[in-house]
Amino acid sequence: MGQANKKLFIKTWGCQMNVYDSRRMADVLRPLGYAEVDGPEDADMIIMNTCHIREKATDKVFSEIGRLKEHKKAKEANGGKMLMAVAGCVAQAEGELILQRAPDIDMVFGPQTYHQLPEMVLKATGMMGRPRIVNTDFPPESKFDLLPEENASQGMSAYLSIQEGCDKFCTFCVVPYTRGAEFSRPLRAIIDEAKQLAQNGAKEITLLGQNVNAYHGMGHNGSQADLTDVIDAVALIPEIERIRYSTSHPRDMDERLIDAHGNIEKLMPFLHLPVQSGSDKILKTMNRKHGRDLFFDIIEKLRVKRPDIVFSSDFIVGFPGETDQDHADTMDLIRRTKFASAYSFKYSARPGTPAANMQGLVREDVKNERLQELQALINEQQYEFNKSCMDRVMPVLFDRIGYKDGQILGRSPFFQSVSVTAPQRLLGQIIDVKINRASPNALSGEVVLVEDIYEAAE
Ligand code: SAH
Ligand code: SF4
Ligand code: F3S
Repeated sequence: MGQANKKLFIKTWGCQMNVYDSRRMADVLRPLGYAEVDGPEDADMIIMNTCHIREKATDKVFSEIGRLKEHKKAKEANGGKMLMAVAGCVAQAEGELILQRAPDIDMVFGPQTYHQLPEMVLKATGMMGRPRIVNTDFPPESKFDLLPEENASQGMSAYLSIQEGCDKFCTFCVVPYTRGAEFSRPLRAIIDEAKQLAQNGAKEITLLGQNVNAYHGMGHNGSQADLTDVIDAVALIPEIERIRYSTSHPRDMDERLIDAHGNIEKLMPFLHLPVQSGSDKILKTMNRKHGRDLFFDIIEKLRVKRPDIVFSSDFIVGFPGETDQDHADTMDLIRRTKFASAYSFKYSARPGTPAANMQGLVREDVKNERLQELQALINEQQYEFNKSCMDRVMPVLFDRIGYKDGQILGRSPFFQSVSVTAPQRLLGQIIDVKINRASPNALSGEVVLVEDIYEAAE
């Protein structure tokens, strides 16, 4: 292979796992001379890292290919070459179809094959013609063990992937098929990576996994470790001041983990806990394997352990068989819980999933109505929560420059976006801010100065 200076453009859709994977693909390709760039123009390789979770995923990929192939043509017109690849969950689900329908695509490979990228790239750019590559294997070895050590700095707020895949088979969901079986990394590897991130400036770590609280990796001395063990271990790293984890499943919220929210100060008082529906009947046909009472129970216990904790969730409206009453049950669950934020989606039938064959399809206009009603309630609750933060002083981790001049942005412990007017040297710091404005989606405030604290004490 040539020396350095090949341009790599990666476009990422989907969840944080994909964001993580994109970074790791760049890590694997760096030794081959590829350096990441921000746009597709003149790239030597383009990777589309795709998501298959909701409808039109495949169509979206094809239209993106249509757009990007113009860059490939331009490059070829100048005598250059550009590799075009589709990775991620659409690649896993639709590998062959993509090769058939998109002649410009050189490579299609699934999420569990990224450690094999150097070989695949060598093949695709090789002398022996330019074979097109499709690789949707679930290799026996784990990519985590074979990817190079993570060295890129992610800055003050870092994501650390500890678990991947899912064995739960909710009837609407493609993840168990596109990502494969649950896999947990060994505790040792996680701690090493967390220390590395801390050395590179991380103050906050979000432990990631499709089913993060189902984590069951190899612990010390061959014992089995769970998510609480991971949190305990990461909390011991002095530079790490904040810990979050995502995404969790209600069924795996065990007592130790609930206790951890009370015992571990560094664990932030914000939990994303997808529940999908408030109707026992729908939860059952979704194969969530729990009822609404378990959800209420967990919320209550967590509030006892950590009184300031707030929640976010995911909801699906219009699952097959969802009646007005089922929807009313979901609205009731939301009213009773009071969320600080939430994501909500219209059910979309995914090929190959059991729900795609279920009876009782909900009409599109009914789905729209339910979604609007649900989102209006969530927005109201989010605004209420934001307003309740007025005049409070809270620590904010500043991690980015704001849109307006002189403004910097950060996150509250409750994951709200907070803006202040302050010098950029505060980026990367956790600073107390007094909140003086609450909007439906964000907060703003003023940095609390030492002299203010003295005055307040007088
Ligand atoms: N592992 C997480 C969620 C993964 S997918 C969990 O167990 O909750 C992220 C969200 O996308 C899901 O929580 C769900 O709300 C939504 N989603 C997944 N499949 C969907 C489908 N077929 N139609 C609509 N929304 C879906
Ligand atoms: Fe999908 Fe359910 Fe697994 Fe979440 S728990 S990834 S929704 S199958
Ligand atoms: Fe999408 Fe795959 Fe993540 S389908 S949500 S990118 S696991």
